[in-house]
Amino acid sequence: MEYAGEQRLFRFANKLHGWTHRAFLPRSGAAALSRAKQGLLVGNVTVIGAQWGDEGKGKIVDWLASRADMVVRFQGGHNAGHTLVVGDQTYKLSLLPSGIVRGTPSVIGNGVVLDPWALKAEVERLSEQGVEVTPQVLRIAETCPLILPIHRDLDGLREDASGAGKIGTTRRGIGPAYEDKVGRRAIRVCDLAHLGELGPLLDRLCAHHDALRAGFREPPVDRDRLLHDLAEIADFVLPFAGPVWRDLDEARGRGRRILFEGAQGVLLDVDHGTYPFVTSSNTVAGTTGSGSGMGPGAAGFVLGIAKAYTTRVGSGPFPTEQDNDIGQKLGERGHEFGTVTGRKRRCGWFDAVLVRQAVAVSGVTGVALTKLDVLDGFETVKICIGYRIGGERFDYLPPHAADQMRVEPVYEEIEGWPGSTRGARSWADLPARAIKYVRRVEELIRCPVALVSTSPERDDTILVRDPFAG
Ligand code: GDP
Ligand code: IMO
Ligand code: MG
Repeated sequence: MEYAGEQRLFRFANKLHGWTHRAFLPRSGAAALSRAKQGLLVGNVTVIGAQWGDEGKGKIVDWLASRADMVVRFQGGHNAGHTLVVGDQTYKLSLLPSGIVRGTPSVIGNGVVLDPWALKAEVERLSEQGVEVTPQVLRIAETCPLILPIHRDLDGLREDASGAGKIGTTRRGIGPAYEDKVGRRAIRVCDLAHLGELGPLLDRLCAHHDALRAGFREPPVDRDRLLHDLAEIADFVLPFAGPVWRDLDEARGRGRRILFEGAQGVLLDVDHGTYPFVTSSNTVAGTTGSGSGMGPGAAGFVLGIAKAYTTRVGSGPFPTEQDNDIGQKLGERGHEFGTVTGRKRRCGWFDAVLVRQAVAVSGVTGVALTKLDVLDGFETVKICIGYRIGGERFDYLPPHAADQMRVEPVYEEIEGWPGSTRGARSWADLPARAIKYVRRVEELIRCPVALVSTSPERDDTILVRDPFAG
């Protein structure tokens, strides 16, 4: 058995030779070497959402990926929906790291929950668009827990039974899969190479799920069917699987630039978000280390992505929501429909209180402000600068959902700008009042703006401070 295991590792190493070769070539001679000797992680960048997701992370990761040696997903699953626009092509990614479109070596870390059938479908979809995802460019952690059809079932059954407590999940089985991970009954990627030894794990898994399913009047888990389906998909997944932590350790040693791609946003973080209306993973930058196997210093420059206004999909509190003509206009101008579920996104004004909180809890170094162009043509724009509950003022979002529902935003009103910011690629292309808006946002969130995005197109981006320069 041991020998077979070693042989398998050896095969992976060989398959990956091309991949590691490209990923691990020294970048800039002496500087990279001395960095590597010191074991420093200067040059890593982490992109996270600073609101409720859909801030434009995919576009920014794609833009930065040209200068990264690797792009790493470290949490979430195919609940993410990242849209990249390159010329006349639009790519929609849910599970694959956005660097894949440029052919940048990409990694799915152990912190991700992986639906192997969704992975196959996404790889096939990209292939139809001319992007080949091979084991030379994609590596998946052997320790990733799998999302199974029973997780998807449970997600839907629970949502339908939850009445007013419905979260509005993507119904993709994310929550149930993470529950099984911490419940120590998950089937993981490495189990696909040990299907003959799955018995005891399946006993644990089914003991749990059969009881839950009975409560919903569903039949017990069909173990034979599950094993058959896993055996069928294993051949597709296993060539991508490997000891990701070791690749990353080697990359660190060589001073490589690693770009971490977050999914969702800080306000959907299971600890720091608007609980219980959150996702089931930690979305903050601190998760990069545990979700990839790189240790606490992995994150490097933390780039928080925030829209110039706010959106949210699914249920839960949203203090600056505009359920009126303004929200309608923001939604239409910003094409605010979910990438994954097609649901209409709720829209509202920029909430500086929330982004300031996200910046603090996630240790954001600089912010990328996206979709500034969507605010073009508004006579006045509003920014939320504080909250009131009854007579009491809050400069943060209180933790209880009932209080979060009750908060009244305190707004600052700012004059809109004439003309267009769309497609701007330098400050000089922006109307003075648009610059004033960006500067005011910076002040209120207490964090500098490192990038401004002015259209979905890859290169319509203003660079203020290069995250890779630290
Ligand atoms: P993600 O989940 O954070 O990657 O964001 P999504 O891709 O789900 O949603 C962002 C949407 O806004 C996508 O359709 C992008 O193409 C689009 N987008 C990104 N940046 C900009 C921008 O600066 N202006 C406009 N108008 N659209 C943008
Ligand atoms: P990206 O990466 C926006 C939301 C769902 C729901 C809640 C829980 O594209 O920004 P889940 O299926 O994760 O259990 O759903 O989280 N949600 C997102 N909202 N963008 C996302 O990802 C999201 N991923 C999950 O709508 O409210
Ligand atoms: Mg999205």
